[in-house]
Amino acid sequence: MVINELIEVAKAARENAYAPYSGFKVGCALLSKSGKIYSGCNVENGGIMAICSERTAFVKAISEGEREFEALLVVGGKDELIYTTPCGYCRQFISEFCKSDFPIYMYYGDEKLEKKTLEELLPESFSL
Ligand code: THU
Repeated sequence: MVINELIEVAKAARENAYAPYSGFKVGCALLSKSGKIYSGCNVENGGIMAICSERTAFVKAISEGEREFEALLVVGGKDELIYTTPCGYCRQFISEFCKSDFPIYMYYGDEKLEKKTLEELLPESFSL
């Protein structure tokens, strides 16, 4: 099942997170319509802005020519996984490329998988 593959890819990506400031490691797996899975992790720096795992994955995919996406799965936490949703900036970023029914999965342990649509996470979103 593709969800299980997304979970494994996201967990593996989280191991690469560079989060020395927050200690909060996030990984994600982005499934494109072409069937490829793009991974992402958060990358922090000593200034202000961290790059979240979700934007890492989207930028990787878009820079490879992808424009259409099926699903996103996110895992995050310090030591243990906890329920982690994309931040506001990422929600807006995702809305540039995905429709309101785009599914976003939050995995945070055995039997702990929740699904929300982009519309649920970002109602009445701004668009030009
Ligand atoms: N972070 C993500 O990468 N994705 C999320 O969904 C929430 C937050 C990162 C940003 C920062 O490096 C750390 O988690 C703590 O905010």
